Amino acid sequence: MLWWTEDLETGIDTIDEQHKSIFDKAKEIFDLGPESDIETVEKIFIFLMNYANNHFYEEEMLMLENSYKGFLNHRKKHNHFIEEIYRIYQKTIENSSEENLNELKVLIIDWLANHISCDDKEFITTLD
Ligand SMILES: [Fe+2]
Ligand SMILES: [Fe+2]
Repeated sequence: MLWWTEDLETGIDTIDEQHKSIFDKAKEIFDLGPESDIETVEKIFIFLMNYANNHFYEEEMLMLENSYKGFLNHRKKHNHFIEEIYRIYQKTIENSSEENLNELKVLIIDWLANHISCDDKEFITTLD
């Protein structure tokens, strides 16, 4: 299980609050199973799609304002995450099988461990 730790803090309140919110949501995601009711599953996907829209917008504006050189590469990762969430959403809403839910869990673990912990940290440290 991955937990929010202080070294993930960027010092930018909006970004930190948003990052914490996905770590909190991850606990609910890891608890999902084929027995979970479909409304709960759907709410989680809606949260993730909302999160992605709002949070990625915040980060990308910061990158543009600071002429961050890795903008396109970082944005590609954001877009890929949105596509993956939507792809998994479509099949999970049809069938919330263990296999589909596991695909979501793997995506989220990777996102917390690699994107927030590495990619986001990397771009934040280049800001003035
Ligand atoms: Fe982020
Ligand atoms: Fe990011």
